[in-house]
Amino acid sequence: MNENIERCLIAENEIKRRIDVLANEILEEMKEKEFMVIFLLKGALVFAADLCRRLPVALEIESLNVSSYKGGMESSGVIEFLDTRFPDVKGRSVLLIDDILDTGRTLHTVSNKLNEMGVSQLRRCVLLSKDKKRDVDVGVEHVAFTIGDEFVVGYGLDYKGKYRNLPYVGILKKDSI
Ligand code: PRP
Repeated sequence: MNENIERCLIAENEIKRRIDVLANEILEEMKEKEFMVIFLLKGALVFAADLCRRLPVALEIESLNVSSYKGGMESSGVIEFLDTRFPDVKGRSVLLIDDILDTGRTLHTVSNKLNEMGVSQLRRCVLLSKDKKRDVDVGVEHVAFTIGDEFVVGYGLDYKGKYRNLPYVGILKKDSI
């Protein structure tokens, strides 16, 4: 355990087991067998890498670089698209992957953009969903874990750019914040 982590919230083997179940659900649901995955940088990198390797189909994997937290603990509420190029999604079946659903603004904004660009089927999948009232309503078809409204790091999630590499989801010690 990292010395700055107060406690582990979701253990590595628990995440692995849940991803196996989730992958089967997704395979059953996606109509096209050759769909596109779009994961959101940077937080979804670790989750997407593990989930995609449990999907035994000819995936195309794309990423989008969007930002809302600015490295701190609160969402700024403004979603910025940082890429200059957008994947060609017209007529495609897309699975959008993110690490955490908090206010809902990020997934809402990205989903709208993908729909505007003409995706044929859009499904969303998150590792963590905070159990709270969202600022905006957004449908998410696949949720690995629901957590309380607390700040977590690890398995892709950061605090000021650190801790994304931890193989579990954990709570930071108060004196590390
Ligand atoms: C975080 C997280 C989600 C988003 C969720 O991204 O990765 O994409 O915020 O929050 P919301 O539901 O309130 O919109 P962040 O901007 O911190 O970027 P990162 O993925 O690079 O850490």
